[in-house]
Amino acid sequence: MSNIDSKSLPIFTSKAFFAPMAGVSDPALRLICKELGAGLVITELTSIYAITARKNLGHEIREFIEFSDQERPHSCQLFGSDIEELEKAVKLVAPHFDIIDYNMGCPAPHITCQMAGAALLQEPELTRKIFRTMVKASNKPVSLKIRAGVNHPDRFIETAKIAQEEGIAMITLHARTLKEGYSGKADWQRIKQLKEAVSIPIVGNGDIQTPEDAQRMLNETGCDYVMIGRAACKNPFLFTQINQYLKTGHYDPITDKQRLEYFFKYVEYTKNYPTIKFVNIRLQAMTFTRGVIGGKDIRARIGQTKDLEELMKILHELYQKLT
Ligand SMILES: Cc1cc2nc3c(=O)[nH]c(=O)nc-3n(C[C@H](O)[C@H](O)[C@H](O)COP(=O)(O)O)c2cc1C
Repeated sequence: MSNIDSKSLPIFTSKAFFAPMAGVSDPALRLICKELGAGLVITELTSIYAITARKNLGHEIREFIEFSDQERPHSCQLFGSDIEELEKAVKLVAPHFDIIDYNMGCPAPHITCQMAGAALLQEPELTRKIFRTMVKASNKPVSLKIRAGVNHPDRFIETAKIAQEEGIAMITLHARTLKEGYSGKADWQRIKQLKEAVSIPIVGNGDIQTPEDAQRMLNETGCDYVMIGRAACKNPFLFTQINQYLKTGHYDPITDKQRLEYFFKYVEYTKNYPTIKFVNIRLQAMTFTRGVIGGKDIRARIGQTKDLEELMKILHELYQKLT
């Protein structure tokens, strides 16, 4: 397990990590993924300005970035490029997590317009300052999550080399550019190029749907770890399947009924986290029931629900019908 006061990376028990996802990778879902075999879980991106402002108002970190020790090893992802605020935010957050991750991949305009997220890929001098500040301020390893570039896949190697020089411990590449958004297919050749360009651990990310995909990304790119986002929200059991497949070459299928059981467990866990609201749970229910037999009609009904009781009634009805 992780060493809470060390600047070296924790030992990961799986090669498959659960991706940070705003509004989705909440502490309850992260815990489910962890229990089902994810090697690392990461909080959604949090603004450095929100951290320092709330701290100034007297709030404790756990009140606005919820997490539990059962998730460990866990990582907290930050965004924002003001150097002084960044230093303060890192110092506040680092004692609570095993890794501090920095977001240079978010394509959302409300993030990139603040010179944050993927927009930073065109600012090598500022990114060097950011990495240097974070590494100096943190008593934990600092990692980085990037895209391949802004308009073209031309910035990730340069950014990674700067990161390595400044002491960043690990880099995740979502193998698309900002401009590509989520369209087309992630180009895994970019992960291979990155792995060949630097010596620190590389996490490959983009479009893994199955255990076979995870194995293929590891084989084709030479990356050290893989990160899974959207597919794990539909089926967190994917982590168990990937671990099994990488070890034995086969994996157990999961039934729709089992998937719903994981969702019920997720709902139980949400009760420990006041920041998870009904709308978040409803959104997760929509994703979880994707691909489940009868799921299409159910999702239309889920969309109309007004509270958790109504939602659970519909899901229990579905559960009873499944074999
Ligand atoms: C709804 C949503 C929210 C996301 N939020 C974040 C985020 O907060 N931080 C981040 O680094 N990436 C974020 N991402 C990107 C994912 O971490 C991941 O890089 C991307 O989904 C590609 O992986 P996948 O094909 O396995 O989903 C988000 C993606 C989605 C779909």
